[in-house]
Amino acid sequence: MHGQVNGDDTTEERRYFLSVLTTFESYREQSLLRIAHKEKCLKSLPPHHQKWLTKYKEDLELFRKCINKNSEFIPVIVQHAYNIFDNLLCNDNPSHSETQVGTLTEGLDKVQSVFKQLMRDWSALGAAERKQCYTPIIEEVERQFPSDKYNRSEINVLVPGAGLGRLAFEIASRGYSCQGNEFNLFMLIVSFYVLNLCKNVDEFIIYPWIHQYCNNLSAEHQMTSVSFPDVRPMPTPESKFSMTAGDFLEVYTEPNEWDCVATCFFIDCAANVVQFIELIYHILKPGGVWINLGPLLYHYSDIKNERSIEPSFQVLRGIINKVGFTMEKSQTGLKTRYCQNPKSMLQYEYDSVFFLCRKNLEVLNNEDAVESDTNTEGE
Ligand SMILES: C[S@@+](CC[C@H](N)C(=O)[O-])C[C@H]1O[C@@H](n2cnc3c(N)ncnc32)[C@H](O)[C@@H]1O
Repeated sequence: MHGQVNGDDTTEERRYFLSVLTTFESYREQSLLRIAHKEKCLKSLPPHHQKWLTKYKEDLELFRKCINKNSEFIPVIVQHAYNIFDNLLCNDNPSHSETQVGTLTEGLDKVQSVFKQLMRDWSALGAAERKQCYTPIIEEVERQFPSDKYNRSEINVLVPGAGLGRLAFEIASRGYSCQGNEFNLFMLIVSFYVLNLCKNVDEFIIYPWIHQYCNNLSAEHQMTSVSFPDVRPMPTPESKFSMTAGDFLEVYTEPNEWDCVATCFFIDCAANVVQFIELIYHILKPGGVWINLGPLLYHYSDIKNERSIEPSFQVLRGIINKVGFTMEKSQTGLKTRYCQNPKSMLQYEYDSVFFLCRKNLEVLNNEDAVESDTNTEGE
C-alpha cells in the first residue's frame, strides 16, 4: 500500500499509528467493562426486579461471549499492520516511550464501526446494501467503458473514501485498473488484511451489532452474526488494484490523470464539499467521468469549531456545472442503507442521489455554465 508520510511528521504519524493499534487492542477490555457496568446497575436494583431480569442477566453473559469472539480477529490484524506501509511509520520495534502510547478518544466507536463495515463490504448479509449502493456505480462504469470499445485495463478508475475497499475491488475484478483511497487508519489496517491476507471464504465470524443495545426485539437480534469474507479477495497477478493511504485532498494533485472517479457515500465527508468537486474535476482527464451515489449527511455539520458548509443538492448541481462538468444523468430517491442491522426496530434508509458528470472537453465560461444548469433531473 502507498502511504503519505514523510519528513518531520513521521514521529507524530507513528505515534498516531501506534495509538490506533493500542485502541484496537483495548477493544475487548473496554467492551467488557461496559458489560460489567451494566451488571453493576442490575445488581443495584431491588431483588424482585433482579429476579424478573434473569433473562437479561443471561443475555449479558452471552454478549460477553460475542465480544470475545470479535476480539479474536484483533491480534491477527494488529500483527500484520506493521507490514502495511513501506516506511518507518510501521516498523514493529516500538521504543520504550512508544509502548506507552494511549488509546484514542472515540477509538472504541471506530473499532465498532469497522465490525459493521466488515458486514457491509465483506459478508453475504451485506450483499443487499452493496446491491443498492455499489451496483448502480459498477453498472455505470461498465456502460461508460464497455469492453468492445476499451481495453479495460487501460481505464484508470479512482475510488476516494474507499472504506474497506469492496467497491474498488469489484471494479478491479471487472478488469479496470482501480485504486481505492482512504485516510482512516482503522479502515486501512483492516482492509489491508482482508484484501491481501485472508486466505479462505468465511474465515472469521463476527457480531457487528453486539454494541447496539437499543431497539432489539430480542437479544438474538443484537447477537446477529456474519462471517467474512464472502469471497476470497486475493488480487490475481493480472489485476490492477491498489489502495492509497492519506487524505484525498492531499494525495491527488496530478491533473488529467483519471478516466473515472467513483464516489459512494463520500462527498458529504468534506467540510467544504466544493473543494472535493474541484479536485475531482482537476484530476479527471478531459472527457472523463465522475460517478456519484450517496446522501448529503454532511459529516462535519455538527462538529464544534469546524467550518462546515452544507449546500443542498440543488446548490451542488449549480456548482458542479460551474466547475466545468456536464451532468449527463441524475436521479434522486435511491433507497440505500448503511451498515444497517436488518432486524433492528430502528431502520435508517437514505433517499440517495445518483449522478454521472463529464469533465467538459473545452473550458466553459463558468458564469454561463451555472446558468445552463437546468432540467437534467430524472434523466
Ligand atoms: C461514509 S464512508 C463510505 C465508505 C464506502 N465508500 C462505503 O460506501 O461503504 C466514507 C469514507 O471516506 C473516508 N474519508 C472521508 N474523508 C476522506 C478524505 N478526505 N480522504 C480519504 N478518505 C476519506 C472515511 O474514512 C470513510 O471510510
